[in-house]
Amino acid sequence: MQISEELRQRFARAQRVFVLTGAGVSAESGVPTFRGGGHTAVWKGLPFDVISSAEMLERNLPAVWEWFDYRRDFLESILPNAAHYEIAHWQERFPEFTLVTQNVDGLHHKAGSRDVIELHGNIWRARCIDCRSSYDMSKGKRPEACLECGDALRPDVVLFGEMLPAGAFEIASEHASRCDLCFVVGTSGLVYPAAGLPEIAKAAGAYVCEVNPEQTPLSSLCDATLLGKAGEVLSLFRS
Ligand code: APR
Repeated sequence: MQISEELRQRFARAQRVFVLTGAGVSAESGVPTFRGGGHTAVWKGLPFDVISSAEMLERNLPAVWEWFDYRRDFLESILPNAAHYEIAHWQERFPEFTLVTQNVDGLHHKAGSRDVIELHGNIWRARCIDCRSSYDMSKGKRPEACLECGDALRPDVVLFGEMLPAGAFEIASEHASRCDLCFVVGTSGLVYPAAGLPEIAKAAGAYVCEVNPEQTPLSSLCDATLLGKAGEVLSLFRS
C-alpha cells in the first residue's frame, strides 16, 4: 500500500481536515462491523437493523436493551487501535479539524479525540423516553426508571427509523462544506444522511480520500481509495 505523491502533498498542506468514520475504524480493536466482507450482523436471529429499530423500541424495549447491554459489556474491555490514535493526533496537526463518527462505541474519545460529533449517539448513555434526561452508564448501572419523571429509559443512540440528534448533521455538514481534505474511514457508505457528508465535501471542492479494505458506493466519488485496514493505512501518514 502506497500513498500517492499528490495525497502526501495535500496532507502536508491541508488547512481544514474533515474525517468521517464508521464501524470499520473500530474493527482492528476487535469490534465486529455490521456489514462488510459479505456479512450482515445478526442478534438472536434478528438482523441488526431490526433489533436496532424504532419499531422494535415500541414493540419490545427489553429486547432492545438486551442487545445494547450485550454490546456495552463487550466494549468494556476494548481499547482504541492505531487508527483512533492517529486520528486523535490529527486534531493537533491541522489548523482546523473535524471528526464525525457514526460509531456509538466511544473509542475516539478514549483515544484522546475531543469534540467528536457523534451522529448516532453514544452507547454509554441512556435517556428517558419522555423527558430526555440523560444517564451516564460508563460509571455504573442505569436506574430502573427515570429519576426525574419515572418514565422508562432507552439507549441514547439513533435507531433505524429515527432522526439524528438535533443540530448534529447541520454542524457536520457545515464543516464538510468548508474542508479542503476529507477522509472517509471504515464506513460502508450506505446509511444516510451520514454518507452524504463526503458528497458535500466533494461538491465544495475538497479532495476526498477513502480508507477501507473494500470498495463502497462512495468509492466512485472519492479522489483516492486506499484499500486496506484503517490502522495500517492511517499509520502510513506518520512517515
Ligand atoms: N479498516 C477500515 N474499514 C474496515 C475495516 C478495517 N480494518 N474492516 C472493515 N471495514 C469496512 C467494511 O469493509 C465496511 O465497508 O468498514 C465498513 C463497515 O460498514 P458497516 O458495518 O456498514 O458500518 P457503518 O458504515 O459504520 O454503518 C453505518 O449503520 O448499522 C448502522 O447505525 C449503524 O452507525 C452504523 C451505520
